[in-house]
Amino acid sequence: MAPPLHQAAATLAAIALIVTVTIATTTAGAAAAAAAAKLPVTFVFGDSLTDVGNNNHFQYSLAKSNFPWYGVDYKNGQPTGRFSNGRTIGDIISAKLGISSPPPYLSLSMKDDAILEGVNYASGGAGILNETGVYFIEKLSFDDQITCFEKTKAAITTKIGKNASEKLCNEALYFIGLGSNDYVNNYLQPFLADAEEYSHDDFLDLLISTLDGQLRRLYGLGARKVVFHGLGPLGCIPSQRVKSKSGRCLERVNQWVLQFNSRVQKLLVSLNSKLPSSQLSFADSYPIVLDLIVNPKAYGFKISNTSCCNVDTSVGGLCLPNSKLCKNREDYVFWDAFHPTDAANAVIADRLFSDAHIRQAPSPAPAPSPR
Ligand SMILES: *[C@@H]1O[C@H](CO)[C@@H](O)[C@H](O)[C@H]1NC(C)=O
Ligand SMILES: *[C@@H]1O[C@H](CO)[C@@H](O)[C@H](O)[C@H]1NC(C)=O
Ligand SMILES: *[C@@H]1O[C@H](CO)[C@@H](O)[C@H](O)[C@H]1NC(C)=O
Repeated sequence: MAPPLHQAAATLAAIALIVTVTIATTTAGAAAAAAAAKLPVTFVFGDSLTDVGNNNHFQYSLAKSNFPWYGVDYKNGQPTGRFSNGRTIGDIISAKLGISSPPPYLSLSMKDDAILEGVNYASGGAGILNETGVYFIEKLSFDDQITCFEKTKAAITTKIGKNASEKLCNEALYFIGLGSNDYVNNYLQPFLADAEEYSHDDFLDLLISTLDGQLRRLYGLGARKVVFHGLGPLGCIPSQRVKSKSGRCLERVNQWVLQFNSRVQKLLVSLNSKLPSSQLSFADSYPIVLDLIVNPKAYGFKISNTSCCNVDTSVGGLCLPNSKLCKNREDYVFWDAFHPTDAANAVIADRLFSDAHIRQAPSPAPAPSPR
């Protein structure tokens, strides 16, 4: 499980951005129709904010959400493996754009033609580091997810030939939202080795050098248009607030997250200058999510400092079948100790979709200048 609603939000922002740009740069009429007909192929890498059911396929994984009350506000009220009472931000933006969310990798056969239209590798509990989320027993770490993409590419090549496969992979969009679990389910857990072994500076160096290698590996497999979703204010999610006696945001955690976001931006700028034709960009959802948490009433919410589902944070913070739900799920920003409600996802998706800066971005991959 992971708190990264922020990444998912940014994913959508990026989808909105790219689609908007596509429409803006083609003229009306036939060209627009052609552009609309050629929907982007997307490959999604991430954690529980973007998982749409991969972990359902792991018998022993503890990072699962295929039971009530997950999905209580989804189609037919059924749990799907999404870590929310309803839709992910990705689902909402995809619907706005007329694109369907790519299916979970583990639900597909490599013989399916569906792999030509995009795949979702996201897995609850996953991190940049292999050892992150170790207590979930089964999950796809980022390295594992890249290996799954490698297998997908081989299957695509078998289907359509080497040149067409290379072209498809070069033109596809890659959304990556990882890092939250490296904090929440690794560094912030005092009983794990990483927390004892590393200062935050050293831990951050490890995260960034690992991510550097992973992004280069994806580039080697053909990825060019990559959007990395920065972390949200993890110090303000319910699982972290309970650690402060007064229920406040943990400022130290938010400062670490900001340092992570800043280092990732510098890494992307540097990779863009080193890897020919690469278009890596950073989607910064931190301020959007923080505003929703600090000013919930401005968005029609009542409560942002605790979750709708009355979770037990001492046993993981997920919403279990015997948990008590709040009366009005639309009043709450958070569904469980980590993930936003369907209502919050709708607001975040709207905000990203209508963000003037995002919509007017001149190119799908504006590398922000490092701060
Ligand atoms: C992480 O695991 C993958 C296999 O899943 C392995 O290839 C890689 O070397 C591991 N990384 C480290 C730092 O141990
Ligand atoms: C594949 O691409 C290479 C290099 O661009 C080209 O020389 C070759 O003719 C192409 N092969 C096919 C089957 O299109
Ligand atoms: C949330 O904030 C409200 C109002 O500020 C306060 O009364 C309540 O105790 C807080 N809840 C938690 C869990 O911190």
